[in-house]
Amino acid sequence: MALLEVSNLSIAVAAGGKLLPVVQGISFQVEAGKTLGIVGESGCGKSLTSLAIMGLLEGSQVRIIGGTIHFNGQNMLTLSDKKRREIMGAEMAMIFQEPMTSLNPVYRVGDQIIEAIRQHKKQTKQQARARAIELLTLVRIPDAEKRIESYPHQLSGGMRQRVMIAMALACDPKLLIADEPTTALDVTVQARILELLKELQQQTGMAIVLISHDLGVIAETCDSVAVMYRGKFVEVAPSAELFSTVAHPYTSGLLSSIPVSDHEIDRLDAIPGRVPMLGEDVIGCAFHPRCNLAQECCSLKDPEEVSLTQTHFTRCHFPIGSNL
Ligand SMILES: Nc1ncnc2c1ncn2[C@@H]1O[C@H](COP(=O)(O)OP(=O)(O)OP(=O)(O)O)[C@@H](O)[C@H]1O
Ligand SMILES: [Mg+2]
Repeated sequence: MALLEVSNLSIAVAAGGKLLPVVQGISFQVEAGKTLGIVGESGCGKSLTSLAIMGLLEGSQVRIIGGTIHFNGQNMLTLSDKKRREIMGAEMAMIFQEPMTSLNPVYRVGDQIIEAIRQHKKQTKQQARARAIELLTLVRIPDAEKRIESYPHQLSGGMRQRVMIAMALACDPKLLIADEPTTALDVTVQARILELLKELQQQTGMAIVLISHDLGVIAETCDSVAVMYRGKFVEVAPSAELFSTVAHPYTSGLLSSIPVSDHEIDRLDAIPGRVPMLGEDVIGCAFHPRCNLAQECCSLKDPEEVSLTQTHFTRCHFPIGSNL
């Protein structure tokens, strides 16, 4: 069994006495030491998927309505709360897009890392401080011994994201979920952070789920890719296979909207139209109103999943380059 196995996961938002589906029957696996990328436009359900895995949906109006999440062989949805919290805190960690929302502005970064370490491990303050310096060095923060005394606002965006990664590593997670970890950063810093994540993965053997709306970021970093549209995976494949033989018109649209140069501000050829709103009914394939390859049946029937190879799946009536 893979380290993380998500099967048929469905999530809904409770609104006005109704349950509105936001994630619909997605399945994926992540092996130890591997990276899965989840990519899609804003609002397609990427963050809710990661929050569900981390067990962070409790108490909100969003809930899991079907499917299973197995982590390290254990069914996370049927474990006792106590056991689940132990695993969530110690074996899975998450980093978010904007470090300032997770770092407390009034405490020194060192104290925040020390606190994170001591939450997970019985260590004296001195031991935890030494470990914090080690972690800051690991994430390539120069002069870690001095930097540990800084307040978050004294660090650049890239340095703050490194601090967040150090905090996430404090518990030696088996799985790291990174939700748009580089979106707020400029392109060069973004590349360095992704490079760092890869290096850390090689050292620690952790699995990573990397979430991004940018297929360029995913392409460089991930072993396999899941393309998400409106709560469903519309294409899943190993990275190399996905990029050499794109099957879904949505994936193809995302690919042509990757900016060609670092200075490009406008996205090239962005996909026309918009993602349907929460609760908006679209009959047939949810992407058909925006798809330039759509035919009549696309507006009548939601496509089933089809396998193009053993590892490459898509949900499209007319996958590009296939005779289906
Ligand atoms: N707490 C909430 N209450 C109600 N609706 C929510 C809540 N959280 C998310 N949603 C809705 O669920 C859908 C999926 O949200 P999600 O945050 O997972 O998208 P996303 O793919 O992460 O988007 P982004 O790229 O903007 O981060 C959106 O339509 C969003 O409006
Ligand atoms: Mg999100």
